[in-house]
Amino acid sequence: MAIGYPSADGGTVVLSDVDLRVERGDFLTILGPSGCGKSTLLRVVADLLPPLSGAISVLGHPPARARSRREVAFVFQDPTLLPWRTVRENVELPLQVGRGSVTRPVETTADALLALVGLAEFADRYPDQLSGGQRQRVAIARALLCNPNILLMDEPFGALDEITRDRLNDELLAIWRRTGTTILFVTHSIMEAVYLGQRVLVLAARPGRVQEVVDLRPMKGANGGLAREAPEAVAAMARLRQLLAGQVP
Ligand SMILES: Nc1ncnc2c1ncn2[C@@H]1O[C@H](COP(=O)(O)OP(=O)(O)OP(=O)(O)O)[C@@H](O)[C@H]1O
Ligand SMILES: [Mg+2]
Repeated sequence: MAIGYPSADGGTVVLSDVDLRVERGDFLTILGPSGCGKSTLLRVVADLLPPLSGAISVLGHPPARARSRREVAFVFQDPTLLPWRTVRENVELPLQVGRGSVTRPVETTADALLALVGLAEFADRYPDQLSGGQRQRVAIARALLCNPNILLMDEPFGALDEITRDRLNDELLAIWRRTGTTILFVTHSIMEAVYLGQRVLVLAARPGRVQEVVDLRPMKGANGGLAREAPEAVAAMARLRQLLAGQVP
């Protein structure tokens, strides 16, 4: 599959030869230099952009099906909240918009999810009364409300301080273990990619392509976890750093 953007001369390829299989329940973290196509790849999975060539199947069907059934939730790089709705009303948005209503059982309430992301006391505020990181956490709560089969997260924790980020990493792992949700997670943090991912997809730029898929499962415990300072984690981070620096052919 090639992915990119349509243009007058047929299309600008961002990533070529993407041949990737993500099993249900996988937690795939995605690393690569700015502009290499990480967000574009998520857009294709979410059915916001068709592939330029080749095909993609999501949950065994064309991506439009998963989209219309709300089986895929997207946390965008820039949180997209409606300014005229309170925080709670923003989280509840997926229950009210779109064709019909959500058919999948809702895992929990907006207030429970806001508590999970540490925003319980902000439920009645409006987005412009929140910090950037707080807005991002509202977007995460909203994505979790529909109990999606696939969760696409585009640098969701980039704007957070390290302590909050560590806490939300742990919460996300707990959610992943509990729900078996398939997660595709873009990050610029090598540490985060190793801590969260079962596999790490390394993308390269110019030309955009898949450089390597690093499988971390052999070094992770039965629950998919690994201490941040474990020697295996440190070694995996060093290897990923070399890959990203172009020091490994
Ligand atoms: N709507 C668009 N039309 C045409 N080209 C686009 C469009 N959106 C992005 N691009 C181009 O596609 C390439 C990949 O962009 P993308 O946003 O996927 O990168 P990224 O890996 O997510 O980068 P970053 O880490 O900075 O978020 C870039 O060269 C970008 O300029
Ligand atoms: Mg991006």
